[in-house]
Amino acid sequence: MLLSKPIAIVTHSRSIITISNFIHSNFYPLKRFLQPSSFIKLFLFFGCLCHVNAIVAQSAMINVSSRHTTNLNGQWKAILDPTGIGTWRQIWKEAKPVKKTDFVEYSFEGGPLLHVPADFNTQLPELTYMEGTVWYKKTFNYTLPKGKRLFLHFGAINYVADVYLNGNLLGSHEGGFTPFQFEITTALREGENTIIVRANNQRLKDGLPGTGYDWFNYGGITRDVNLIETDHSFIEDYFIQLKKHSSTEVLGWVKLNGTKPSQQIQVNIPELKVNYKTTSNAEGKAEIKFSSKFKLWSPEKPVLYKVHIQCETDTVVDDIGFRNIEVKGNKIVLNGKPIFLKGVNIHEENPIRAAKAFSESDALVLLTWAKELGCNLVRLAHYPHNEYMVKLAEKMGLMVWDELPVYQHIEFATPGVADKMNLMLREMIRRDRNRCGVVIWSLSNETYSFTPNRDKALVELSKQCKQLDSTRLTTMVINNQGYTNNTFNVTDTLYRYVDVLSLNEYIGWYVPWQGKPQDAKWKFVCDKPVIISEFGGEALYGSNYGPKDEAAYWSEEYQEQIYKDQTTMFRTTPNLSGVCPWILFDYRSLGRMHPLYQNGWNRKGLLSDRGEKKKAWYIMKKYYDSISNE
Ligand code: GCU
Repeated sequence: MLLSKPIAIVTHSRSIITISNFIHSNFYPLKRFLQPSSFIKLFLFFGCLCHVNAIVAQSAMINVSSRHTTNLNGQWKAILDPTGIGTWRQIWKEAKPVKKTDFVEYSFEGGPLLHVPADFNTQLPELTYMEGTVWYKKTFNYTLPKGKRLFLHFGAINYVADVYLNGNLLGSHEGGFTPFQFEITTALREGENTIIVRANNQRLKDGLPGTGYDWFNYGGITRDVNLIETDHSFIEDYFIQLKKHSSTEVLGWVKLNGTKPSQQIQVNIPELKVNYKTTSNAEGKAEIKFSSKFKLWSPEKPVLYKVHIQCETDTVVDDIGFRNIEVKGNKIVLNGKPIFLKGVNIHEENPIRAAKAFSESDALVLLTWAKELGCNLVRLAHYPHNEYMVKLAEKMGLMVWDELPVYQHIEFATPGVADKMNLMLREMIRRDRNRCGVVIWSLSNETYSFTPNRDKALVELSKQCKQLDSTRLTTMVINNQGYTNNTFNVTDTLYRYVDVLSLNEYIGWYVPWQGKPQDAKWKFVCDKPVIISEFGGEALYGSNYGPKDEAAYWSEEYQEQIYKDQTTMFRTTPNLSGVCPWILFDYRSLGRMHPLYQNGWNRKGLLSDRGEKKKAWYIMKKYYDSISNE
């Protein structure tokens, strides 16, 4: 039929053939519309796409591990879709041939299996550098008791996710590092149910991050997947932390979701004999206000209490610590005492496995290294890491710096970008605001001051952050300070809108010293605590290819000298309240292309990708051991 007509786009004849056969076999009703004008076909193709992005995922309920869950981790069936044609094929419909002449050019049966949670790039050689679409399928049986509700919860999917249940779109989510969920109570079937996920990690110009970043773009269903059963009304969210500037008063709230919003609420801390009772209002919200003699959480004593939050139809239990973090003048103060933040940067990667980190055991490897270095803080760069990381850090007495992937070039003036920033901010704070270990919300990293609308958008974001949580410190990491005559001139006015002045400087690596480190001078746009949030240089562990005093040979000695100079400068840097070397361990970044020294790895680690200590490690450890916060 269509095939016989040698239409203009003969070069594409093969594809025309394919498309019309495809249409014939799968979308007969549509056929009569698809006269051979490619424009119509394109219009329909994009029609499908628009339909896909209509329904936005719900904000996820918090504290999943304390809920009635059915875990869906494990092997998922997959279809690799590098061209992205799967959306047009409507893979979620899982079409099957009906007549003898029918055929379907995709199927999950007989295809590859992918492990969830994990990135897909390290699971199949053909996915190594994949930045595109992979379709996942998982089936489950579930009998939902009468009056109960069921949710499908994802810890994170990088980057855009479309989620289908039994062939119908539940909705979509954009953002690779925060949780989201869908209520499936009414969509559930008796017997077998089928979840299909389209996970796409293509870089988006108006994405967060944008198209350029110095880490590996691991795609896929990268964190836990759970079914969560609740009663008709449940405890959706809560905030149980000390009031700002207080070491005894808790000021928070509980939020119910459901048909019975107004209920008796209790917050019990058996260890402290706290038994607080109140009632939620018609919106399901209840203020929580009580005092107690807390042993305050600190890196030396990471005390956590079992807190039971109850309403008539739900109970969740959380391990919560209580501490106070604030700025006094140009000092950071924890529980009333000035503290020096001994930090280290970490990417969400397990270098030993050369893959994305996602589990508690991954977190234990990375955080144990940080403790060994003498750290009391970890900067989780440049995006919210998985919950295991944040919870374990808190348990191990490591303060946490949470950050949004508002990284370098961001299209702040493009419609929708501000909403995306706001959504990610809300999702990050919602998940982690009961983690007393989290002391800093970092809103951006190295954004370009000349980008249109940058200042306005980030000032607005910092205000929203304070509205969502005023108990923690805020910062924006900037690296546009001047450095002339061994003098740093820190001028960015954005610093006026945050609590802590964080800056990245790579003197000794990207920029040569202009004088003795101990003589470096500083001018700051405002008198606030200063954190040097990145510094360092590269070295290939054991590199012995050339003169030690030349950068081009990636020697450990060259990196060691950078650390000697930096830690010397720190002793004379005014307002310095913390430092954070870039970075704890070598990590994958495809832009690092020197075949001998880098081979797709950023080699600024103090540890190699096998956890071997470079010479600079000992300089940093000695510096941290020399600083007491007692
Ligand atoms: C930047 C940036 C990091 C990057 C580092 C580097 O400062 O924030 O993400 O990896 O420099 O160049 O290694």
